[in-house]
Amino acid sequence: MLPRLLLPWYDTNKRDLPWRENTDPYRVWVSEIMLQQTRVEAAREHYVRFLRELPTVEALAACPEDRLLKLWEGLGYYSRARNLQKAAGIVAAEGFPRTAAGWKKLPGIGDYTAGAIASIAFGERAPAVDGNVIRVLSRLLGDGRPAETLKGAFFRELEPALPRARCGDFTQSLMELGATVCTPAAPLCPRCPLFPLCRTRGDALPLPRKKPERRRSEMTLLLFCRGDEAALCRRGDGVLRGMYGFFAVERAMNEAAVRAFLQEAGMRAFALGRAKAHKHVFSHLEWEMTAYPVRSDEDARTLRGGAGAAHTPFGALEYFPVEKIAREISLPSAFRWCLPLLQASAPQGGAEK
Ligand code: ADE
Repeated sequence: MLPRLLLPWYDTNKRDLPWRENTDPYRVWVSEIMLQQTRVEAAREHYVRFLRELPTVEALAACPEDRLLKLWEGLGYYSRARNLQKAAGIVAAEGFPRTAAGWKKLPGIGDYTAGAIASIAFGERAPAVDGNVIRVLSRLLGDGRPAETLKGAFFRELEPALPRARCGDFTQSLMELGATVCTPAAPLCPRCPLFPLCRTRGDALPLPRKKPERRRSEMTLLLFCRGDEAALCRRGDGVLRGMYGFFAVERAMNEAAVRAFLQEAGMRAFALGRAKAHKHVFSHLEWEMTAYPVRSDEDARTLRGGAGAAHTPFGALEYFPVEKIAREISLPSAFRWCLPLLQASAPQGGAEK
């Protein structure tokens, strides 16, 4: 019943998205990884660029990590890109899995993604239950149990309803309905092809899930710059592990505190540029940051100690031309907003104390 109502609706209403041009497994796979934690509109442009630069699984497997992370910039959750590449190495050697069970063995691929790829690229009758699908089915059936419970239940219950032909289109039609009609806050019930079957029809919608509690932390970023270069450091364990960032002290500091911190660390002559505050929101974390450009002819890598919890030792800093940081280095958006500050603090006379 569901396929009979959904497939014709999908044929006339589906969005024209670049990963729907064909069902090549590599293209489908990349799209599903990008869409794991990124909205369709944000993923779309990145997807086209990514496929242009890395059109095959072999090209992805052979891509230097820095270039890969640059291509991923703006999508966030960089571990997805690293897992994608790890898996590409396996697929380049062994071929594409043809079943959801085979896809699930690859790094970064869980039940949902495995089902989505196997059904869309290979037509396997494999269920794919994501947040959109859970919302559509829970409203359709009037089942208000928590999403986690429903996920398991729908995974089992959907299987017999999957059509023999066009299973991938059916999977995408459910996602599409959730994304464009059966939306979280204001569903467009009169346009819904499942309206005749729906138990809730816009009433008694399951309660929205509670917003995730986010841990807030305050941070001070010191943007060390010298001539036309600025200093970055690779982040250690934790958030944005392995990515470049600016030198971070995990507490709020006003300008006087920054001056004292730098003096204590052994910097003698420096000019502080105009500070800027910015909040970056991750799924479970909020960073309230203040960034200070610190212009000095002295080498920040030789600084010592520094009162407070510096995230990285000064010695781990690396200087790069600001132009190169802007164009070539993958700098997460949690830090990218600092680039205009570096450009604005370009040398205007000597350093002051
Ligand atoms: N979300 C996850 N997979 C998708 C797809 N193939 N099309 C649209 N949205 C999606």
